[in-house]
Amino acid sequence: MKTHGRRTLAIASLATALIAAVTLVPSIRAQGSVQSVVDGAFAKYKNLQEGKNADYIPALAKVDPNLFGIAMVTADGKVITAGDVKTEVSIQSISKVFTMARVIQDQGPDAIEKTIGVDATGMRFNSIVSVEFSKKVLGGPELNALVNPGAITATSMVQGATSDEVWAKIINTYSDFAGRPLSVLVDVYKSESDSNQRNQAIGMLMYAYEYIKSNPAQATDLYTRQCSVGVNAKDLAMMAATLAFGGRNPATKKQVISADNVPYVLAVMATAGLYDDSGKWLYHTGLPAKSGVGGGIIAVSPGNFGIAVVSPPLDDAGNSIRAQRAIRDISTALHGNPYAVQQQRPVATSGR
Ligand code: DON
Repeated sequence: MKTHGRRTLAIASLATALIAAVTLVPSIRAQGSVQSVVDGAFAKYKNLQEGKNADYIPALAKVDPNLFGIAMVTADGKVITAGDVKTEVSIQSISKVFTMARVIQDQGPDAIEKTIGVDATGMRFNSIVSVEFSKKVLGGPELNALVNPGAITATSMVQGATSDEVWAKIINTYSDFAGRPLSVLVDVYKSESDSNQRNQAIGMLMYAYEYIKSNPAQATDLYTRQCSVGVNAKDLAMMAATLAFGGRNPATKKQVISADNVPYVLAVMATAGLYDDSGKWLYHTGLPAKSGVGGGIIAVSPGNFGIAVVSPPLDDAGNSIRAQRAIRDISTALHGNPYAVQQQRPVATSGR
């Protein structure tokens, strides 16, 4: 009787372990079926004519609004694409993720939390009111590194004796995430440098309030340069995938940031990656993500896939419309939402 009970218990434990193992392993699908999901989203949104290119940076208004590319990197390192994944656009605010990652890697997660904050502002990405509100009403660093004031501050925190040294750190970090050498789109850099007076004011304000402790003009210039880095959908997907797979680039196998630091990066993306629409985005997808006014969006399904879409027309919050819709559809079809667990979760206790 006792032996029978023990055997039943052993079988039950084995079954539980198997279920846990199955839920831990990303769902295995034929490459063709993932390709057809990606192709389906591309076909569905290819002719969508909503939104408008950003034009407050004149060079962005000139980019072809029909440019549309989807790229996805799966757990086995396969790159699945649809549309134009070669044409480069400027990375814009997506750069903020990777500068923040550099600072977290070099100085630890506390540096970003204590200097800038890790809370959503609920305001536009270039809000000056959010800085005033944080300082005067909240009384502390209650911003985040993915809105302009926090991002210019994060850039000022990258260490280096000269501006060139800091820049080398930034561009090498982005290149490591992408798995190829990236460079600045000079026309975008010039265009944004000529029209970034608001960001210059934000940099100066952050200096006045002692968030920025070094030369604010240098920080704003380097920030402008980092936003002008050229990337295509494939680069962005590889950058997202490096975050999805513990900070290790799935193509080059280089450990770009340590796995321990990745959750801090993803948390701020989840909180503030799509600005004042971050809550709506998370509600529908559960995916840490980041948009840029160049038309790119990256999204991360941890341990599962990294995905990126490039399509310049934006909605009122500054997020690419085709990119949001395509990523949402693809992730839903592939069960990318990390909160949507349908089977028993693999965390269990023995009951003792
Ligand atoms: O600073 C700016 O305004 C741009 N370089 C970046 C803004 C941006 O990408 C916001 N994204 N949705």
